[in-house]
Amino acid sequence: MPVTYLDDRKMWILETERMAYVMGVDGQGGFQHLYWGDRLPRVSDYPVPAPTHARAGSLNSCHPFESPRSMVYEEYPAWGGIKYTEPCLKASYSDGVRDVVLVYETHWQATAANATAASGAPGPKPIPELTVVLKDPYYNLRVKLHYRLYEEFDLLERYAEIENAGSGDVSLEQVLSGAWALPRGTGYRLTYLAGHWGAETQLRRIDIQQGKFVLESRRGFTSHQANPWFAIDPRERAGEEHGQVWYGALGWSGNWKIVVEHTFLQQLIVAGGINDFDFSWLLEPGEVFTTPAFVGGYTANGFGAASRNMHRFQLEHILPESHRHELRRVLYNSWEATKFDVSEEGQARLAEKAASIGVELFVIDDGWFGARNDDTAGLGDWYVNQEKFPRGLKPLIDKVNSLGMDFGLWVEPEMVNPNSDLYRAHPDWVYHFSNRPRSEQRNQLILNISREDVKEYVFQCLDRLLTENNIKFVKWDANRHFSEPGWPGAPVGREREREIWVRHVQAVYEVLERLRQRHPDVIFESCSGGGGRVDLGILRRVDQVWTSDNTDAFDRLRIQEGFSYVYCPKVMVAWVTDSPNFMNGRKVSLSYRFHSAMMGSLGIGGDLNEWSPEEMELARQKVAEYKEIRHIIQEGELYRLLSPSEEEAIRGACTSVSAGASISAVQYVSLDRSESVVFAFLHSQQFRAQMPRLKLRGLDPEAVYEVTGAGIEGTVIRLSGKALVSLGIEIVLGGDFDSRLIRIKNAHPLCSSIFLKVCRQECYQVAGGDGR
Ligand code: DGJ
Repeated sequence: MPVTYLDDRKMWILETERMAYVMGVDGQGGFQHLYWGDRLPRVSDYPVPAPTHARAGSLNSCHPFESPRSMVYEEYPAWGGIKYTEPCLKASYSDGVRDVVLVYETHWQATAANATAASGAPGPKPIPELTVVLKDPYYNLRVKLHYRLYEEFDLLERYAEIENAGSGDVSLEQVLSGAWALPRGTGYRLTYLAGHWGAETQLRRIDIQQGKFVLESRRGFTSHQANPWFAIDPRERAGEEHGQVWYGALGWSGNWKIVVEHTFLQQLIVAGGINDFDFSWLLEPGEVFTTPAFVGGYTANGFGAASRNMHRFQLEHILPESHRHELRRVLYNSWEATKFDVSEEGQARLAEKAASIGVELFVIDDGWFGARNDDTAGLGDWYVNQEKFPRGLKPLIDKVNSLGMDFGLWVEPEMVNPNSDLYRAHPDWVYHFSNRPRSEQRNQLILNISREDVKEYVFQCLDRLLTENNIKFVKWDANRHFSEPGWPGAPVGREREREIWVRHVQAVYEVLERLRQRHPDVIFESCSGGGGRVDLGILRRVDQVWTSDNTDAFDRLRIQEGFSYVYCPKVMVAWVTDSPNFMNGRKVSLSYRFHSAMMGSLGIGGDLNEWSPEEMELARQKVAEYKEIRHIIQEGELYRLLSPSEEEAIRGACTSVSAGASISAVQYVSLDRSESVVFAFLHSQQFRAQMPRLKLRGLDPEAVYEVTGAGIEGTVIRLSGKALVSLGIEIVLGGDFDSRLIRIKNAHPLCSSIFLKVCRQECYQVAGGDGR
């Protein structure tokens, strides 16, 4: 039973395959968090609700200056009474009272059916769901806490609904999705992802001390600067394959915050949801406010297991169902090749080249619409530029289709250049404050799609484009963050203006959902100047994301490493571009660039007109090879073998430490463990250093595998899975920026342990003597 309710103790025990999460009601009706960690053998192993009345005379009694309630963990703390830690809910009632008191009212269990089978085979798989209702009885404010259990991934998804069942307005000032509580203690460490444009999802680690550490975005978008994800390991420290890790990710693409709070009582709380900065929401009688979902997980098997659980969860529950089980196609994107200089003829030439190397989807990026010759004009005018495409898009689309590829288009629907027909007609359609400048970034402003009419305009533009043209792919970009977030003339007065932070995100989600419904064949990619809008919220509505504008194949290794902690490779788009790369002027071989980009959903973004016949031939081979192995990369399990980040390697977060952090390697294993690939990269060899043996993971110990690509060309190694894992393989890498794509295949797919014994001698011989 995934949810056990103990009526006598008023306790709920939520259990997945290896994790348990326990809550209970105390004598005063308070809803307490009791436990989150390993699934324990007996129900009576779990803690019971602690009394919250003062226990005078006891050494464990309440601390001076604190309340008894603050000595326990509250499952969904509301700001009211004596409370100083981060609340999930802060509200004020119409009579001016700003004190919220929540007590348990009722609960129920159900199953949510919006999921597909874990095997990958489509079909409904019920997801157990528990709802616990708390209530502020005097004002009839209800808080419904929803918990969904993803048993095989040891994940718990939670969100809250705040319902105004009273007769007066309620003003919400802070309403988070939930607060995770870890076992009381010290010595914890926080892992998170931070960065900036061109350097997204960089891994960061800090020791947690008493106080608060806030991860957040106040930019109106998920942001490049921080990603809504956390992972915490205890004093003993976890590695890639061992140790306890508590982690969570928030599904929200606007202002968010995750507060990691460690109290003097050694409590560790991670509260997260929509950012309360400049936020308020007016809840009229009868209305409900729903928070985004916050998913949390626990594993005793290290960061690698945490990532793999998140990946499978996305592949089977988060990504939109229509394309969830399809492999992502190899795309070509013209941005780095042509920038704004697009034309029918130029794109047709690129399309021919792209088709010749095996590209399946041809995408025109920025510059095809309005008066868009550079970034100063055109955004908002979503009609084809007649000078660049005098015959419209159709002849080009037909050409692309005749070459056997689908056609895709770039748009930036939330934005407008002041130099556009749209802005000249509707200068009031952007967020702004009266009597204040409208600060431009990249010469653009943000359309106020919190307004129904503006949202409808955006939807109609996109719907028309998709209806009139055979477009199978949309790259939805957003190239600035919010400033002056005003809405003069907001429908119900100024107090509603602060709702735009939430309404904008809701509008983006709604437009995407409506477009998906009307155009189910279309694949959507989320982009925001690279990876500025990557989170579980947008991933419910798009099929893939543009990881970073930084296409430097070496920089990408670290961006992609951080990305892999949370998000699955299927959604991680990576292009092979030209060398030297525009970002750092770095020159690396085409083969290295391919290997770096093949670690996710492969794209090509270089100027193919400039590639030599030899380069085109190599590209053709690499694209063909990618097609052979992409099912392993996109739908298999990912193992980080050696970290590209020096700090990580030195700390030994990966189980093997590379020589001078010069080598990094990532392995992907098919779910049935019959196939695997490894991408290995050498930064710079020094002092004639020997390369370390690469110990593989995730293989069937009993199976015999054939390994190609590790040694000198043509060498085939045959070893058991056990040997590959415990002894590893030697890889030949040398010089600067060298790379290898190693392929591992079960030599005898029907192999059993009996067969392994029979073929033991044979394998030994094929391997050439010592089998290594
Ligand atoms: C930012 C994106 O990240 C790029 O890939 C490209 O689409 C440009 N915008 C176009 O303006």
